[in-house]
Amino acid sequence: MARGSEFLGSDWAILCGAMSWVSERKLVSVISNAGGFGVIACGAMTPELLDAEIAGTRALANKPFGVNLITMHPDLFDLIDVCARHEVSHVVLAGGIPPKGSLDAIKQGGAKVICFAPTVALGKKLLRSGADALVIEGMEAGGHIGPVATSVLAQEILPELAAEHLIFVAGGIGRGEAIASYLEMGACGVQLGTRFACATESIAHPDFKKAFFRASARDAITSVQVDPRLPVIPVRALKNKGTEEFTAKQVEVAKLLDSGSIEMGEAQLQIEHFWAGALRRAVIDGDVASGSLMAGQSVGMVKREEPVAEIIAALLDECEEALALRTGVAAQ
Ligand SMILES: Cc1cc2nc3c(=O)[nH]c(=O)nc-3n(C[C@H](O)[C@H](O)[C@H](O)COP(=O)(O)O)c2cc1C
Repeated sequence: MARGSEFLGSDWAILCGAMSWVSERKLVSVISNAGGFGVIACGAMTPELLDAEIAGTRALANKPFGVNLITMHPDLFDLIDVCARHEVSHVVLAGGIPPKGSLDAIKQGGAKVICFAPTVALGKKLLRSGADALVIEGMEAGGHIGPVATSVLAQEILPELAAEHLIFVAGGIGRGEAIASYLEMGACGVQLGTRFACATESIAHPDFKKAFFRASARDAITSVQVDPRLPVIPVRALKNKGTEEFTAKQVEVAKLLDSGSIEMGEAQLQIEHFWAGALRRAVIDGDVASGSLMAGQSVGMVKREEPVAEIIAALLDECEEALALRTGVAAQ
């Protein structure tokens, strides 16, 4: 983990993955100040909003933090400029293959770049293109996900790349024993989201947090695609009325398409727009019935509100104990 923490400039290589609406100045600064590494979720923010969020975080944080930018954002290069102006030390690029010139632009601004690698081949390509570190995130994670489990990605990617490169593992991590395993396999650190979403310092609505405390792993399901003509990006979230309505909406739109009442473009737009603003409704307004309760399968291990510092301390204790037992030294 020392390699990871040296790279991040944090005490521990435990990232709190960016979570839209959740990872704002307060949570991000608290995570970094507690020795982890907080990452602002830019999401759909304008460059002006990101500018204010970075300034607000800087005012609260006395340790480095990162900014997560979504590659599809129409103002991606303006957002990169904002990060450079604030001398942000680490930029995480999420949401697909980074567009041409984006890695160079970030590096010219003086920041280190962290990218998501869904396969070994793509990981190698990203490293060749200048990525300083990779996150491999499995389908156990909350939010937008790929199709492969963390355990499989780790076995495929860590033996191949981790000796020479910095690889962080994300998805489904709820306890320190899991961190120990991935470190043993060569990871230089880990990224968690779900466990931190309900921290005492998280601004998420009390009802959002309550839904997490009640949920078990099997409640965190992936969005279902009903019709191959209507694309649905897989998202893992707690099942609620909204997820059922989404399935019904797809059936309704598919029927309209069959009857010729709407064109394909309009049909796809209706599907795409269904969840617009849904995460904000759940996180900020506490609409747990029809909002999007993005959560990973580790949600079953989140039982109560805990301060960030206690979560990090518990993870480290469990990790240390697991490693000590393996080397035959009983943890004190
Ligand atoms: C509520 C929520 C919102 C998220 N939003 C984003 C996001 O905006 N950008 C991103 O790259 N990842 C996002 N993620 C993924 C997290 O950054 C992190 O990688 C993931 O939660 C790790 O897996 P875990 O949930 O099993 O701990 C989100 C996750 C959750 C739970």
